[in-house]
Amino acid sequence: MSGKLTLVGVGPGDPELLTLKAVKAIGAANAVVYPQKPGEKSLALSIAEMHIADQATRLPVNMPMKVERNPAQLAYDEIAAAITSLLNEGKSVAYLCEGDPLFYGSAMYLLERLPEAQIAIVPGITSLTATASAVARPLAARNETLKVLPAPLDDEKLIAELTETQSAAIIKVGRHFDRVRNVLTKTGHADNAIVVEYATQSRQVITPLLDFAKNERPYFSTILCYKGDEAWGK
Ligand SMILES: C[S@@+](CC[C@H](N)C(=O)[O-])C[C@H]1O[C@@H](n2cnc3c(N)ncnc32)[C@H](O)[C@@H]1O
Repeated sequence: MSGKLTLVGVGPGDPELLTLKAVKAIGAANAVVYPQKPGEKSLALSIAEMHIADQATRLPVNMPMKVERNPAQLAYDEIAAAITSLLNEGKSVAYLCEGDPLFYGSAMYLLERLPEAQIAIVPGITSLTATASAVARPLAARNETLKVLPAPLDDEKLIAELTETQSAAIIKVGRHFDRVRNVLTKTGHADNAIVVEYATQSRQVITPLLDFAKNERPYFSTILCYKGDEAWGK
């Protein structure tokens, strides 16, 4: 494989939060690959689009939105095969990842499937730091611990993880919202919990958790919650 693959973090949504290195890698690519949900425009593409060369090939990867692992794993097998062909032709390929490629990102599935490829990784601004900036609140302070917890974890696991934690970010909230809100109420984190939807994007919304009526939230939602000792958490 004489071509090179770059896994490019494109940040949380605001196109101005692309790094200079990301812009350079996107502009230099002969082929740009990006995940998208069926019927929706890819967020990663919309962030990076203005930097893609006119002659570059665009290759969307349709990610099946299923809870089961298998359909997505098959999609990654297919995209790894397509990228391998491009690399064998000597092309430079950029794979766009929303946020950072290795923070709960899909890039890891390519790393494990392409052990022979020359791969560079351009880190991106994560949704974690973007949400903290949006609410102008530290994620954690001094010797406090910060946990990132995926909302699909079951209640028992979430409660066990939260019990000893001052500060947490709950990601992948979506349809788990009501259940997570009940959990945070039980663990004492709900009073200082804030929901950030679409951080850094023009549709960004910030709402205290307890202001919501029951409902699911969009996929691009994160809950920042806190029960530590710092004044900003009161
Ligand atoms: C699979 S993780 C991908 C994280 C991404 N690689 C990153 O570095 O931010 C997707 C989750 O990140 C959070 N997320 C991503 N972008 C976000 C945004 N702009 N605003 C709020 N939450 C976001 C949501 O909780 C979403 O369900």
